[in-house]
Amino acid sequence: MDKREETQHSNLQEIEKEILIEIEEIKSLDLLERLTTKYLGRKGILTTFLRNIPKLPVEDRPSAGKNANLLKVKLEGLFSQLRAQLESVAENNNDFIDVTLPGRVAIRGTLHPVTRISREITAIFSRIGFEIAEGPEVETDYYNFEALNIPKYHPARDMQDTFYVSENIVLRTHTSPTQPRVMEKVKPPVRIIAPGKVYRCDSDVTHTPMFHQVEGLMVDSDVSFGDLKGTLSTFIHQLFDEDISLRFRPSFFPFTEPSAEVDIECVMCRGKGCRVCSGTGWLEVLGSGMVHPAVFENVGYDTKKYTGFAFGMGVERLAMLKYGIDDLRKFFENDMRFLRQF
Ligand code: DAH
Repeated sequence: MDKREETQHSNLQEIEKEILIEIEEIKSLDLLERLTTKYLGRKGILTTFLRNIPKLPVEDRPSAGKNANLLKVKLEGLFSQLRAQLESVAENNNDFIDVTLPGRVAIRGTLHPVTRISREITAIFSRIGFEIAEGPEVETDYYNFEALNIPKYHPARDMQDTFYVSENIVLRTHTSPTQPRVMEKVKPPVRIIAPGKVYRCDSDVTHTPMFHQVEGLMVDSDVSFGDLKGTLSTFIHQLFDEDISLRFRPSFFPFTEPSAEVDIECVMCRGKGCRVCSGTGWLEVLGSGMVHPAVFENVGYDTKKYTGFAFGMGVERLAMLKYGIDDLRKFFENDMRFLRQF
């Protein structure tokens, strides 16, 4: 070996020594990748060495080339061995639990806006002494109509498009049949609130064949129209807000006399007049009145001793006003993006 050949050789040996030290430190695939590039990459140390061989004196070239190639093969072997090791470690570490990571938030269900407002309505009445009552959705013609002073063939039946199951069985068109059902069973004082589904043969942008109502009834020895006004005012103020105005507008229902519809100041424009209230500044939210003596007679209550008031409201309508929902169909589409907001 002459002098120059020795220099080359020791240079290669130095490179090898350095690599063997560095490789000891490699604990990740990332670092291994960097080391591989450092020596074998396009501008790597060993690659550069190989590329410079033609610049060496002719007599040095063969041995330098041979040794450099041997080292290259050796390194490739070492690197691929180490890569396999690191990969298997990484794989086994896959079920390692990092307790410092933030937990995944579980998706919680939300209450349907109709359920939510129904509960709010019944909660308000519970606080002022009303109990919850329920009746069947498949109802007899008697409770749905006759007991409520709506005789067969009476024009008042036209107010509601009825689904008939058979001649004397209907899908209840309102929650009012709960009134005679409760009164038949209990003596006054009666104070009940009855939420539930009702059905009407009607379907367009503002009507669905099924919707929800809440019925209310109070009967005692001297219940007055003043009690009706006080109770419903309290309710509206608690459901919306204390400052909202309401008015009682004369109306007609076969089962109440006198009857009144309750309007509230438009919650969207605060009475100024807008699209929602058709420019009137008012929104109709419930029907009410003093229980008709004929209804009391049907359930065997003494009409000289007792008076009472009743009311009924549409739940979807109240939910639309309270939550600012502009389309009735949203309640029934089961779109999670809509429902999750409640
Ligand atoms: N049942 C009526 C309807 O569905 C609403 C109603 C009006 C209920 C007046 C009542 C009442 O109890 O007194 O349109």
